[in-house]
Amino acid sequence: MQILLTVIVLALINYIDSVSSIKTSFIRQHLGSRTPYRFRANKNDSRIKYPGCKDIKIWMVIRHGTRLPSQKDLNAVSSLLELKYEVLWQQEYGKGQLTNEQFNRLQEWRVNIDPDQDSYLTLEGQDEMILLAERMQKRFPSAIKQKYSNKTFLFRYTATQRAQQSARYFTNGLFEKKDAQDIIFAPATRVDTVLRFYKHCDRWLSQVKRNPETYKETRLFGLSRQMNKTLESVSYRLGLSRVLRLETVELMYKFCGYETSWDKHHISPWCYAFDEDSMQMLEYYHDLKAYWLDGYGHELSYRQACMSIKNMFEFFDKRDGYQSIFMFSHSGTILKVLTHMKLYQPSSPLRGDAIVKDRPWKLSEIDSFAANLAFVLFRCKDGDHVLTLHQERIIKLPMCKHELCPLKHLKEYFHDSIYKCDYTDMCSLQPNSTNVQVENN
Ligand SMILES: *[C@@H]1O[C@H](CO)[C@@H](O)[C@H](O)[C@H]1NC(C)=O
Ligand SMILES: *[C@@H]1O[C@H](CO)[C@@H](O)[C@H](O)[C@H]1NC(C)=O
Ligand SMILES: *[C@@H]1O[C@H](CO)[C@@H](O)[C@H](O)[C@H]1NC(C)=O
Ligand SMILES: *[C@@H]1O[C@H](CO)[C@@H](O)[C@H](O)[C@H]1NC(C)=O
Repeated sequence: MQILLTVIVLALINYIDSVSSIKTSFIRQHLGSRTPYRFRANKNDSRIKYPGCKDIKIWMVIRHGTRLPSQKDLNAVSSLLELKYEVLWQQEYGKGQLTNEQFNRLQEWRVNIDPDQDSYLTLEGQDEMILLAERMQKRFPSAIKQKYSNKTFLFRYTATQRAQQSARYFTNGLFEKKDAQDIIFAPATRVDTVLRFYKHCDRWLSQVKRNPETYKETRLFGLSRQMNKTLESVSYRLGLSRVLRLETVELMYKFCGYETSWDKHHISPWCYAFDEDSMQMLEYYHDLKAYWLDGYGHELSYRQACMSIKNMFEFFDKRDGYQSIFMFSHSGTILKVLTHMKLYQPSSPLRGDAIVKDRPWKLSEIDSFAANLAFVLFRCKDGDHVLTLHQERIIKLPMCKHELCPLKHLKEYFHDSIYKCDYTDMCSLQPNSTNVQVENN
């Protein structure tokens, strides 16, 4: 009888533990730029039609799929391994709040990644590309033909393994296997001012990326009382008697994202260190950084994206040539292009003094792995129109009245992006201080 009672009590404690711990569904919504695309994709792949119109061209920019951690994150992994043993030790002594199952998952945790394969596309990333391609083709069968021809399709990628492999698997989703060896990919170049305009933009590098001011709000948030409480709460959850540094908690958050992303069946045990509040704090910390580096924080960051936008309009204006252009690139490109299109702008600049929970600028939603933005040209009885899809969902651009937006209107609105977009002017460091503009409202 007593044994039975003990078993029941233990089961009850375990049950209470598991309800009090963070929900998997919540974790999946807050992984930032390490959100796998399967949580974002639009599974409805019915054909998208408008009366009196035909889809004739598509221009799409796609972030590479789920990848392995970067060199920097892999180098830091030994510190997580040490932490794992410390946490397990504390739990054995009854400290910390992990359930038995979570304890076991952490105990089994190890990293088995060849250091030479940092940032490589994962199997999950391959699937993301194949499925995305299949759905896009079903939606726009006229703009995206079933049969490959080097006259109609253009595939471009940056000089990185993850972008190149993403392009390859995307074409596997579009075409029959036997066509695979015929596919021509545009040769990747070290400097690519359309796909990765910022990478060698000297003025942006010096005024924004390497400028400590850019990280001011992020730093502030990292030192805030809210963040200190987060670090305490995470450390307490893990049963530690000391308070972890932000750097370590950030690494846990990143691995929570990576591992949840590439494993379809489990979330990473590092996610168990967080509750809802602490998860959102780490998410905001990264959103804030991206806001000031790649988003609305600095005018030059998104002005450069005219290099991509111009390419799209020029492509739509051409009477012959390609029908489909697919470009495989990076988070930095997606975010700057979204900002150039005035999408997801917070009502006021994001600051480091307090978390802004209700913000449209959420990397978990807008910048997941395989994040994508497509512009589809529809030829209609009343002229050419452009349909925009972000993450495979139709969106209305803020400068348009309807989803299906007249090309003429867009070209007028983006006149300067098309005709006053000079890379050298924009990016050379030669003393032209009149161009220093920081949004300071
Ligand atoms: C799927 O998408 C099509 C085309 O956009 C739409 O008409 C239809 O209502 C959608 N179906 C569902 C179940 O949402
Ligand atoms: C494009 O395809 C045609 C045949 O369909 C072929 O003759 C031609 O060489 C190809 N172009 C290139 C650049 O490979
Ligand atoms: C948070 O902790 C850091 C490091 O211990 C400290 O420098 C900072 O002043 C703390 N912030 C607040 C608001 O207490
Ligand atoms: C500096 O930039 C401004 C505005 O972009 C331009 O009008 C001016 O001609 C530039 N001056 C030089 C020396 O390039």
